[in-house]
Amino acid sequence: MNTPRILVTGANGQIGRVLTAKLRELYGNNNVLATDITKHDLDSEPFEFLDILNHQRTLEIIDDYKINQIYHLAAILSANGEWNPVKTWNINLNGLLSVLEICREKNIDRMFFPSTIAVFGNTTPRLDTPQDVPLLPTTVYGMSKTSGELWCNYYHKRYGVDVRSVRYPGIIGWQSLPAGGTTDYAVEIYHAALKEGHYECFLNADTRLPMMYMDDAIKATINIMQADPQEIKVRYGYNLSAMSFTPAEIAAEIKKHIPGFTISYKPDFRQDIAATWTESIDDSKAREDWKWSPDFDLNSMTIDMFKHLKEIIL
Ligand code: SER
Repeated sequence: MNTPRILVTGANGQIGRVLTAKLRELYGNNNVLATDITKHDLDSEPFEFLDILNHQRTLEIIDDYKINQIYHLAAILSANGEWNPVKTWNINLNGLLSVLEICREKNIDRMFFPSTIAVFGNTTPRLDTPQDVPLLPTTVYGMSKTSGELWCNYYHKRYGVDVRSVRYPGIIGWQSLPAGGTTDYAVEIYHAALKEGHYECFLNADTRLPMMYMDDAIKATINIMQADPQEIKVRYGYNLSAMSFTPAEIAAEIKKHIPGFTISYKPDFRQDIAATWTESIDDSKAREDWKWSPDFDLNSMTIDMFKHLKEIIL
């Protein structure tokens, strides 16, 4: 394989910021181009503004920077997506189609597409959700990711595009904040615990969802992209699992570090979204095919979150 010359779209997002830094550490700053519609003051170069719906500009960037791998992260998340369904569909699905077309036309070596537990719905088994299950998502975000998975599978089968994808659970990290997801509470709660000693949660106490620490999410992404093509047997989204917990359980874990911490519950529309997702995931296919295994559980994640957040916040 050629030396990776990587394009990251949505590089300013929750995962994009951390993934871009990791890719630069692995492959060198100049081999990893960060793009987004906004720029963060602290972002290092190279960076280009890119609206993912601008196909022509994306093509120019691919040529100018001699890109041969794409991590296509740009998307609107589940809760924010509900405020503007048509715009969300356009960015999430048509943005993906533009990138898939470019992969085909330009013979891009490898592409990564993040899918999500939001592809699941009320017809999906809720416990140890298997890889291949009925998908009937209720959010436009989930609809766009479900259809996106099918398009990835299609481009692989029809045109041989080497696209790889995982279904991320809720991602929790100290480095960045999520924007408009249903699992955001699990990041906000750590910040609130340190700053206010209290958190008002927008989900019910007993809403169990699959979650993952950022380090594991980055590890999974790099591992699947580094795997040999013949190891990748699923060309839509691989199920991926690390831990599952409820707001009450994460609050109890936080109390071990901050004994005075309190939580109250004021569920909003995000509770209805969470109620359609599953509680735990069977990721044996990813473990089997490209040797995936997570390092962090709720206990070790909480220790690491506080270690880093205390340096930043206190
Ligand atoms: N974390 C995402 C969300 O809540 C799920 O992929 O929207």
